[in-house]
Amino acid sequence: MKVTAVILAAGQGTRMRSDLPKVMHAVCGQPMIYYAIQAAKAASSETPVVVIGHAADAVKDYVHDSARLVFQEKQLGTGHAVLQAESFLRGKSDYVIVTYADMPLLRAETLSRLVATQGANPGPITLLTVIADDPRGFGRIIRKPDGSVEAILEEAQASPEQLTIQELNVGAYCFSADWLWEALHRIPLSPKGEYYLTDTVELAVKAGLPVQALLLDDPLEAIGINTRIHLSEAEVAMRQRINSAHMLAGVTLINPQMTYIEAGVTIGLDTVIWPNSYLQGGTRIGENCEIGPDSILRDTVTGQNCVVLASVLEGAILEDNVDVGPFAHLRKGAHLCSGVHMGNFGEVKDSTLGPGTKMGHFSYIGNATIGPNVNIGAGTITCNYDGVHKHPTQIGADVFIGSDTMLVAPVELGDRSRTGAGSVVTKNVPEDTLVVGMPARAISRKTKR
Ligand code: UD1
Ligand code: CA
Repeated sequence: MKVTAVILAAGQGTRMRSDLPKVMHAVCGQPMIYYAIQAAKAASSETPVVVIGHAADAVKDYVHDSARLVFQEKQLGTGHAVLQAESFLRGKSDYVIVTYADMPLLRAETLSRLVATQGANPGPITLLTVIADDPRGFGRIIRKPDGSVEAILEEAQASPEQLTIQELNVGAYCFSADWLWEALHRIPLSPKGEYYLTDTVELAVKAGLPVQALLLDDPLEAIGINTRIHLSEAEVAMRQRINSAHMLAGVTLINPQMTYIEAGVTIGLDTVIWPNSYLQGGTRIGENCEIGPDSILRDTVTGQNCVVLASVLEGAILEDNVDVGPFAHLRKGAHLCSGVHMGNFGEVKDSTLGPGTKMGHFSYIGNATIGPNVNIGAGTITCNYDGVHKHPTQIGADVFIGSDTMLVAPVELGDRSRTGAGSVVTKNVPEDTLVVGMPARAISRKTKR
C-alpha cells in the first residue's frame, strides 16, 4: 500500500507581516516546514511532495532533497494547490495525505491514525477535527442529524448560528488517491475566487460516499500559524513537548519554562540543565553533565561529566571531565581535551587544549595547539593576527606560561619550557628553557616543575 503526503506551502502568509515566507519562520530552531516534512515522512511510504509558490526559492533551498517540490504559480486555493501534485502522483499512490505546512505541532502518530482510519473507510476521505473554544478562523465541521460529516464550512461563509460550532477542521486529511484526483477537477469556485480542498467533503457526501472524521485528543497539535502571536504559542507548546521528552528520557531540567532546547539536540542520562540555558543547532551533550545557569551552547558537543557555568559555547568540542566558566567564550573550532579546566573570562577559538591543561583567568587563545598539562597563566594572549593573516602558536607538553605572557605568532614553545610574568615571546622557545622579558630571552635551561 503506497501512501504519499502532499504538504501545502505555497501561500504568502500575509498576516505574518514578513519578508520571509511563513513556512520558513522558526519554531524551536527549525523552520516550521521541517516539522511538516518530518511528520509526513514518518506517516507515509513515499517521498513527500511539497507545493511551493510564494517566495519559492527560499523554501526550495531549505527543502532541498528531503522532499519533491512542485510549483503552484498562482495561489488559487488549497484544492488547486493539491492539484499541482496530480501529474506526479496519479496512479502511483493508493492514499494521499494532505497537510498544511503551517502546523508544526501535528504529530506523525496522528497522521498514521488518519491513514489507518481511511484504510477502513469505504468512502474516500478521512479528515482530522478538533473541538476548541477559540475557533481561530478555522473551517467549521457541519454534521447531519445522524452525526455523520456533511461538509466543511469556511468561516467567511458561515451563518451566525454555524459560527458557534466548536468542531473545527484542523487541515489534515487522508484521501483515496484515485477518487481525489478525479474530484479535485470538480471543485466549484468559492465566493472568494479560490478552489477549496475542503469542498471535496461535500462532493463525497453528495455522491453518497461516507466521510470519516478523526477527533484530535491533544488540541495543541492543531495550532496553525497565521500570525506571530500564533508563532509564539507554537514555540511555547513545542518547547514543552521537547523538554518533556528529555525529562522522560532521564535529563533533569531545574525549570523547564526557562530552558530552551531546540529540536534535534541530544542530551545524555542524568545531565542537569539549570535555568536560562539555550541548547541550539546540532548540540549534543553527554551523560552526567551540568549545564547552566545562563549558558548558550550552539553546535557544541560535550563528553561525560562536563560542567558549563554561565558561558557561551559555539561550535566547540569538550571531551570528558571538562569544566568551563563562569563567563567563558568558546568559539568555532575550540577543542578542549579531557580534564581541561577553563575558568573565567577566557576565549578560545580554533585551538586545541591538551588533556589536563588549565587556563584559569583572562586569556585569549586563538589558532593554537597546546599539549597536555600546560598551565596557561592569567592574562595570557596569543597575538595571532598581524592585521592581515592569522598565525599559529604551538605549545608542547608540561609548559608553564607565566601571567600576562604575549605569544607573538607564529611561535613555538618546546616541552617543559616556561615563560616569566609579562614576557613577550617573539621567537621559538626550546625545550626545558625559561624565557623572560620583552622581547623574551632565555635565562636558563633545565627548568623544573
Ligand atoms: C484552511 C482550511 C480551513 C482550516 C484551516 C486550518 C481551506 C479552504 N480551509 O484555512 O478549513 O480550518 O486551514 O489551518 O483549506 N496554500 C497553498 N496554495 C494556495 C492556498 C493555500 O499552498 O493557493 C497553503 C498555505 O501555504 C497554507 C495552507 O495551504 O500552508 C492553508 O492555507 P491558508 O490560507 O492558511 O488556509 P486557512 O484560511 O487557514
Ligand atoms: Ca492557515
